Amino acid sequence: MVAFFLPLAGLGALVYLVTPISAQVPTVSLLIDSSTRLSAAEALNLNLRSVLSQVSSRKGATFHFGSTYSTPSSAEAAWTSNIFSTFFSAVVAENDCKWYATEPTRGTFTLSACEAVSSLAGAHGATFRGHNTFWHQQLPSWLPGTVTATDLVQNVIPTHVAGVIKGLGTNVSSWDVMNELITDSATTAMNSYQCVQNADRWPTVTADGGSTALETNLQFVYAAFKTALTNAPTTATLVYNDYSTGGSDAKDNCVFKLLADINANASIPYNRLGVGYQSHVGAQAGYFVPKAQLEATFAQLNSLGAKALITEMDMWIQANDTVDQRYQAAIWGDYLDACLYASNCFEFTNWDNRDDTSWITPGNGHGVAMATLFDSNGNPKTVTYELIARLQRYASGVSEMCATALGSSSCTVPST
Ligand SMILES: *[C@@H]1O[C@H](CO)[C@@H](O)[C@H](O)[C@H]1NC(C)=O
Ligand SMILES: *[C@@H]1O[C@H](CO)[C@@H](O)[C@H](O)[C@H]1NC(C)=O
Ligand SMILES: *[C@@H]1O[C@H](CO)[C@@H](O)[C@H](O)[C@H]1NC(C)=O
Repeated sequence: MVAFFLPLAGLGALVYLVTPISAQVPTVSLLIDSSTRLSAAEALNLNLRSVLSQVSSRKGATFHFGSTYSTPSSAEAAWTSNIFSTFFSAVVAENDCKWYATEPTRGTFTLSACEAVSSLAGAHGATFRGHNTFWHQQLPSWLPGTVTATDLVQNVIPTHVAGVIKGLGTNVSSWDVMNELITDSATTAMNSYQCVQNADRWPTVTADGGSTALETNLQFVYAAFKTALTNAPTTATLVYNDYSTGGSDAKDNCVFKLLADINANASIPYNRLGVGYQSHVGAQAGYFVPKAQLEATFAQLNSLGAKALITEMDMWIQANDTVDQRYQAAIWGDYLDACLYASNCFEFTNWDNRDDTSWITPGNGHGVAMATLFDSNGNPKTVTYELIARLQRYASGVSEMCATALGSSSCTVPST
C-alpha cells in the first residue's frame, strides 16, 4: 500500500543522479543566528496562527502555510492534530482527493475520504486546498482502460472534474486541476502540445510509456480547466501543478506556453489561473532553484495576472550534520521569502509533516533524506526555527533580505 500511494512526483531526472560522495555545502548565515531561538517545546507550542494572520495582513489576503494530511498512526494522532491547530494553517490531502479515491468506478463518486480532510481543516481552523482532479498516476482501475480520445474529452474528464470540485464545495483555496503533464526532456522549440506529448504519458498515449497515440491535441486539458472554471468557487485558484519547475529552463518555458493556451483556447482568465511549483528539491547546488530565478518566474506570472504557489515542498540533505541542516534551512527560507515577498504568492504547502512519514527516504540519490520540517520524533529542526523566524520577520513589516543559500560570503543576514 505504501509504495503505491507515494506521490511519485519530483524524482524526474534527479533519480538517476546518485551522488556517491557528498558535494561541497556552503557555510550559510541564518536569521536564527541573530534572533532568539526558541526551545523545542516553545516551538511546538508556539501558536503560529497569530504570526500567520499578521503575514496575511501585510500581504492583503490570506496566506496559506500548509502541509499534507493522511490518516496518522494512533501514536501520532495527537501530534498531528496539534500541528494542524497551531503550526500549519492549511491542509491538503496527500492521497484522498485523487482519482482512484474519488471515482473508483466510472460515474460513481466516493468523496467521503476527501471531504473528511476538508472537514478536518475546518475543525482545526485551517483552510483546504484540492489535489488533484487529473494525474496520470494513482488512477482508478478502470483507467486508462479502453476509453477513447473523444469519450475522455467529452465525458470522462468533465464528469470527473465537475463531480469532485462541486462535491467539495466552496471552502477551497485552490484546485490542482491538472498535474504533471510536461516532459522532463523539454526544448524551447516545442509547442505546448509537444511539451505534453513528449512525456509519453497517458492520455497522449494509451498508457504511460506506450507508443500508441490517444489524445492528439490539448482539448483534454481545456476540457478540465473549462469544467473547473464552471464548478469551482470564484475565489479558488485553478492550478497547473508540476515538478522540476520554477527556474528559467525549457520545462518552465513549456509551463508558460501551456498556460497561454489554457488562457486563449479554454477562455480561462489569467486572474483565475495559477502555477503550482511542487518544489521537491535537494540541499545541493543544482537540485533547487535559486531565489532570484524563483522570483523572476513568479514576477513573469504576476505580469500575466496569474498566481504562483509552492505546493509540495520538501528537501533532502546529503548528510546528517550541522552544515547540511543549516544549508537546508537557508534554501527553504529563500523559497519561503520568494513567496512571501511576491505579490501573487499566497500558498506555501510543505509535503509530509515529519521525517518518519516522508515519501523521501535515504538513498536513491536523496542522501540521508531528513526532508521535512519535523524529525522522526516530531521535534522541530533547524529549518523549522528558521521558517518561524522568516514568518515573524515578514510579519514585522521589514524589507526583503538577501538570498541565504548563496552562502555567507554573499549574504550575511542582518541582525534584528
Ligand atoms: C466553510 O468553512 C467555514 C469556516 O470553517 C464553516 O463555518 C462553513 O460551515 C464551511 N462551509 C461549508 C459549506 O463546508
Ligand atoms: C491554442 O491557442 C494558440 C494560441 O495561444 C493557438 O496557436 C493554437 O492553435 C491553439 N490550439 C488549439 C488546440 O486550440
Ligand atoms: C542525526 O544525528 C543526530 C546527532 O548525532 C542523531 O541524534 C540523530 O538520530 C541522527 N538522525 C538520523 C535520522 O540519522
